[in-house]
Amino acid sequence: MSAFFELSGVTKNFGGVRAVDNMSFAIEKGELAGLMGPNGAGKTTIFNLVTGVYGVDCGTITFKGEDLARFKTYDIVHKGISRTFQNLRLFQRSSVVENVMTAAQHGIPYTFAEGMTHLGRWRRKEKEIKAKSMELLERVGLADRANQAAGTLPYGHQRRLEIARALALDPELLLLDEPAAGMNAEEVISLNALIRDLHRDFELTILVIEHHMDLIMEICPHIVCMNFGAKIAEGTPDEIQGHPEVLKAYLGEEEEE
Ligand SMILES: Nc1ncnc2c1ncn2[C@@H]1O[C@H](COP(=O)(O)OP(=O)(O)O)[C@@H](O)[C@H]1O
Ligand SMILES: [Mg+2]
Repeated sequence: MSAFFELSGVTKNFGGVRAVDNMSFAIEKGELAGLMGPNGAGKTTIFNLVTGVYGVDCGTITFKGEDLARFKTYDIVHKGISRTFQNLRLFQRSSVVENVMTAAQHGIPYTFAEGMTHLGRWRRKEKEIKAKSMELLERVGLADRANQAAGTLPYGHQRRLEIARALALDPELLLLDEPAAGMNAEEVISLNALIRDLHRDFELTILVIEHHMDLIMEICPHIVCMNFGAKIAEGTPDEIQGHPEVLKAYLGEEEEE
């Protein structure tokens, strides 16, 4: 039996830069896993490869036994993988709820023209989408902000909105790219609780990228650590914490900061 989600020997070069180097790991259904590593390690590139933003140079990425190489981003979303972005990609001028509704429309089986000719059905559907979007906003703690422009939200709230939008795509596998970036300590604590709750309540498999060691250690029982595109360690927080390669990678980074 193949794993729920698996990278096998994945390599990606950008010109002379090997961003991902023979990367392999597997995540089982229902896991809350972490992908950790210093800045520039290749973490975001992995998400870009998984979601079809780039093609792999070598290796395979499989989801529920299917090689994702043949599919475009749009199809990969329909297969049940959605993500957030390290650099936020919200529609800044649209309202908070509209940002979620745009994503929630993904499953509608008819076109705009059909929508116009079946106006009643379309309106009903829109109501459903709005209700679903409001529910998701409730979950991430933004229901009271629904009608304000997304760009006017504090940064930490915009990160939560990105999560609501990714959930609106009904993922089985949710990829979170540095969801805590730019948050203060208090916001990080409540974000951790949110990720744990979503994992449990939506029966999601989650892979979260974080470059801060402590955050990922707290919520992820399974951690993959990478540096210079390659895996340097994999295991439980205890195994990762004391791992010589991990310490070495992070020591170098602290010196840079
Ligand atoms: N589109 C791209 N073109 C050229 N180089 C890239 C591109 N995307 C990423 N890289 C390079 O790949 C390496 C890994 O980047 P990235 O995956 O963003 O790291 P991380 O998310 O771990 O900080 C870096 O050296 C980065 O400059
Ligand atoms: Mg990144």
